[in-house]
Amino acid sequence: MENLAPRPGDLEPIETASRDEISALQLKRLQWSLAHAYENVPLFKQRFDAKGVHPSDLKQLADLSKFPFTTKSDLRDNYPFGLFAVPREKISRIHASSGTTGKPTVVGYTANDIEMWAQLVARSIKASGGRPGDIIHIAYGYGLFTGGLGAHYGAEKMGCTVVPVSGGMTERQVTLIQDFKPRIIMVTPSYLLSILDEFRREGIDPRESSLAVGIFGAEPWTNAMRLEIQDAFDMHAVDIYGLSEILGPGVANECVETKDGLHIWEDHFYPEIIDPVTGNVMPDGEIGELVFTTLTKEGLPMVRYRTRDLTRLLPGTARSMRRMEKVTGRSDDMIILRGVNVFPTQIEEQLLKCEGLSPHFQIELTKHNRLDVMTVHVEALPGAASSEQRSAAAKELGHHIKSVIGVSAQIDVAEPGKIERSAGKAKRVVDNRPKD
Ligand code: DLL
Repeated sequence: MENLAPRPGDLEPIETASRDEISALQLKRLQWSLAHAYENVPLFKQRFDAKGVHPSDLKQLADLSKFPFTTKSDLRDNYPFGLFAVPREKISRIHASSGTTGKPTVVGYTANDIEMWAQLVARSIKASGGRPGDIIHIAYGYGLFTGGLGAHYGAEKMGCTVVPVSGGMTERQVTLIQDFKPRIIMVTPSYLLSILDEFRREGIDPRESSLAVGIFGAEPWTNAMRLEIQDAFDMHAVDIYGLSEILGPGVANECVETKDGLHIWEDHFYPEIIDPVTGNVMPDGEIGELVFTTLTKEGLPMVRYRTRDLTRLLPGTARSMRRMEKVTGRSDDMIILRGVNVFPTQIEEQLLKCEGLSPHFQIELTKHNRLDVMTVHVEALPGAASSEQRSAAAKELGHHIKSVIGVSAQIDVAEPGKIERSAGKAKRVVDNRPKD
């Protein structure tokens, strides 16, 4: 793999600014953002008033803990445009997340917001090892999902040649990679695995492809998966994080030279980690729920938005801005199996230790004799799919899950190609327990 450390002069001054400079900028911007939210969004005014706080009470960054949280249901309850802080005509783009139940959550951006977003995605691509002039293959979905268009505007801002493929039509993905020779791919890690399968099905060695960097996000993925992908494609695999309510992709990104967690672009977002039960702010270094307050957003400012994502804050390394550790999972994806908390990422880690298994998996929850049962559906790799090989692989995975995670799981090793594929975010957990 290429050595991709940034060259002197590549970075914006804020990326290497001192902590004091960053904090001073954050305080000034936070004071503006709270006032903007309070004055222009009835929900924020009502919530602040009910808690007896006013934007002018924020004298230092730590004062933010006095302010109320915002949640996804606040967006749903104010569907579609009720949380916008500018007149609707000033909103130049709408995105929405589909959500599995009820109405989608709708977000809106002013022209300045779109510009800021493009700059942050460009900064993220640069941190990942991208350079002006690169060809970028974008296989995140285009449309209401923020992935495709968010990546697209950032790649253009970076000065790249953008190939807006979107997700799906996997054979065509491989053809275009072979023919256009992109240096960079942006895609969900689970869909990249489908593209990998297609390379192999067509007998093309993925290590011979032009890809040098993959920028993967929109769903949790492990360091074990990083190694798997890097080895398969002989490319760097870098993590990008974001969520529609705060921006879309480009809230935080890893640096290719360190790959040690994602630097949060703290000049635009203020992160906190809270105890998900008490709501108390936790010190840096402790794992809890990630909460964001936007510092510069005009269309949809967010105050202490509870992401449900679990991680911890770490000091800056390759950049001065703090890092968030790779997200373990969402609190709503956590499975509690006979008292043990299990995240799909833990299953992923164990699965990648087993030789004859493909990295595609899905977890099914059922009930047997009133007890919860977890079945991990995986598939054999072609060439390791005889019934003896499959039962040996099932035994091995069951053993790893039991000894490392501490729960008993049933393992179903299917034939190659049997696990449902998605062209976007993978659905890792299917809950078939009777609803009572
Ligand atoms: O997934 C935005 C995005 C697009 C990020 C493309 C990166 C790349 P939503 O659809 O609103 O937005 O989903 C946001 O996805 O709260 C996390 O639970 C999860 N997520 C996003 N990035 C990561 C990541 C986009 N790198 C939700 N690691 C978030 C783990 C991630 N989870």
